[in-house]
Formats: sequence, structure tokens, C-alpha cells
Amino acid sequence: MESAIPEHLRCPRSQARRAPDDYVPPVPAWVARFDASVSRVAIACFGVQYRGSARAGVASAAIRRLVDACAAAEGPQHHDVAHHVDEAGYETLVLIAYWRDVPAYQRWWAESDLAIWWTSPEREREGVGYFREIFTPRAPHLETLFSSPDRFEGVGMLAASPSDQIYEHGYWGGARDRLPLAQTDGLAPGGVIGRVPTGSAGRIVLRPPQHLAVIRSGQDWSDTEGREREIYLGDVEPVLNEGMTFLRDHGRAIGCFANRYMRHVDGQGLPQRKSFGLSFWRSLAHLEIWAGSHPTHVAIFGSFMRMVKASEGQLRLRLYHEVMVLAEDEQSYEYVNCHPMTGMLRAIG
Ligand code: HEM
Repeated sequence: MESAIPEHLRCPRSQARRAPDDYVPPVPAWVARFDASVSRVAIACFGVQYRGSARAGVASAAIRRLVDACAAAEGPQHHDVAHHVDEAGYETLVLIAYWRDVPAYQRWWAESDLAIWWTSPEREREGVGYFREIFTPRAPHLETLFSSPDRFEGVGMLAASPSDQIYEHGYWGGARDRLPLAQTDGLAPGGVIGRVPTGSAGRIVLRPPQHLAVIRSGQDWSDTEGREREIYLGDVEPVLNEGMTFLRDHGRAIGCFANRYMRHVDGQGLPQRKSFGLSFWRSLAHLEIWAGSHPTHVAIFGSFMRMVKASEGQLRLRLYHEVMVLAEDEQSYEYVNCHPMTGMLRAIG
């Protein structure tokens, strides 16, 4: 067993670890190990929102354009496409793409014809909304967790290898203990989220806050069978869905600016047996309070721990998450023709 924090990012703590020194986790878990040369990654979420079948074609064509651009030489090392219906009843398709370094992402954006397409006033007149949410966390501002070491998702796809089994998990506060930055920083939120003038009423750019927390927390039930699949779909997923709907519709009161409970889709737009919640929080503390006290997450936390113990290492359900706590210069948000409840727009609504 080893610490979730890689050796090159460890430092003397000024912030106490949440777990006692003799803590032993009840079940195993792993983190993604990035090469020490990976100092900052880029995670780009491009979304298209639409309503009604007449606009579905425009939305699919836009996502296809983005997916095709991922094949370029400077394209991302990994990408996913996912779908959800938002709080205003709009369908949304999102491409999430991951790069091992920020300049590669910047070159990709500048060298493809995407930037021209994106900035064209045409995008404001197509009857769909577009958004671009870019995160560029430095390595100490990011932590991951996986329930199995043999297949990763999301930012884990940029990893060189899995870690050994790690100590810092299985208790409330584990995410903070895994985050290198939290060794020396309380991660208090700061700054005021506001609009940056763009010269166009249909295009909104936001000034980001300090220490926004973003989580992508996913589940993959594609390998489950029989009783295990029944338990996931019959008992766990409905409770997860309830928790995700609560965050989507009522999250703002508890510091969750936005939540998307998304289902992966394949190249034909068909749903896969994989989903994730992607949410934006005023601070890590706000996210921790929801995770540790909301009855839906407390219930699924408990049921997962019981399932792992009962499975004697045979559990086929895969869980993972990635959490970032972002400095102001590690975020950028742009919304084109989107309704006012979209993503971080809710933070200024
Ligand atoms: C079926 C779905 C889910 C299951 C079974 C599940 C279960 C768990 C478990 C077992 C842990 C403890 C992990 C560890 O440290 O070993 C955990 C932590 C956590 N989960 Fe979930 N979870 C699910 C979905 C979600 C979603 C969708 C979110 C957020 C949008 C979320 C947010 C968190 C957070 C923030 C923590 C860390 C809490 C802390 O460190 O104090 N989970 N979850």
C-alpha cells in the first residue's frame, strides 16, 4: 500500500490529514499515476443543447465535427461523448476531451478550423446553444480514485500506470487527503463570478472564481451480470438518480452551481452502460458536505461498501472519480445562445 499522493508532490503538511495515521481502508482502491513530467493537463467540455427533433441534426453534426477534430495530430489522448437532459428540459450532448499538456490543447484549438467555426456569429443563429468549459489543473490540483486498477476512465486515461493500493479512501475526507494541494492549503473559495464583456448579447464569457471544485464521478456496469446487475440497476441506480436530480434542480442552495448526470453514447448516439455525474461546486467543502450527509449519497456509499465486501474481490461494477480544485487561471467558460440555467451561468443567475 502507498499514499495516493505521488512522491514528487508530497510535502510537509500544514493541514491535518482527515484519517488517523493507523487507518486501514476496509476495501481496496487505486489512483491514476501520471508521469512526473505531466505538470498540468487540459480537460475540455464542449456542449450543444437543443430541444426537439428538428434541432437534433444540428446538434449531432456539431458533435461529429468536434469528434472528428479529435483525430488531428494535436488531438486529445482521450475523449468521451455523453448525453443528458438538463433542468430546463433541453437535451445536451457533451464531448469531454483530455490532453496531457496544455500547449497541445492550445495548438489543437488554434490549428484546427474549430476556433473559426466556434467564433462565427452563425453559432448564435442556429437554434441550438453551445458551451465551452475548459479546465487546466496543475498536477497538485487534481486527484483520482478507481475501484479497480485494470481499466481507467476520464483523466485516468492520461496515466502512465495505476498506483499500488492506496491508504486515503473509504472515509469522509478521503478526497481532500488525496489532493496534493490540500497538504498546505485549506482551499477556501474566493473571487466573484461575473461576466466579461464580449460585444455580443448571445455570447457570455465568465470571470472564474478561486478554488471552484469540479467532480466527474462515474460508474460502469458493462461487465456486471445476473444478481450484481440487478442490484445496481434496481437498488443503487435509482438512488443515484435521485441524488443527481436533487443536485441538478436544487443544488444551488447548497453550493452546487450545476450538475449533469450523463450517459455515455457511442458513435451512433446509442447509450452505453456507463454514466457519470459532472458537477461544479463553490468549494471542495460544499461538495464534501453533500457527499457525507445527503441521504442519497450516504446510502449508495454504504451499499457499495457492502457490495465490495460481499463480492470477495469479484465485483464487476466499476466506479471512479476525478476531483479538481481550480485556481482562477485554470478555468474558462463561454456560453453561446444558451439558456440562463446552463452550467456556470447559474452562478450569476
Ligand atoms: C453509484 C454511484 C456512486 C457510488 C456507489 C459512490 C460511492 C462512493 C464511495 C464508496 C465513496 C468513498 C470512496 C473512497 O474513499 O473509498 C465515495 C466518495 C465520494 N463520492 Fe461517491 N459514489 C457514487 C456517485 C457519486 C457521485 C455521482 C458524486 C458526485 C457528483 C459522488 C461524490 C463523491 C465524493 C465527493 C466523494 C468523496 C467524499 C470525501 O472524500 O469526503 N459520488 N462515493
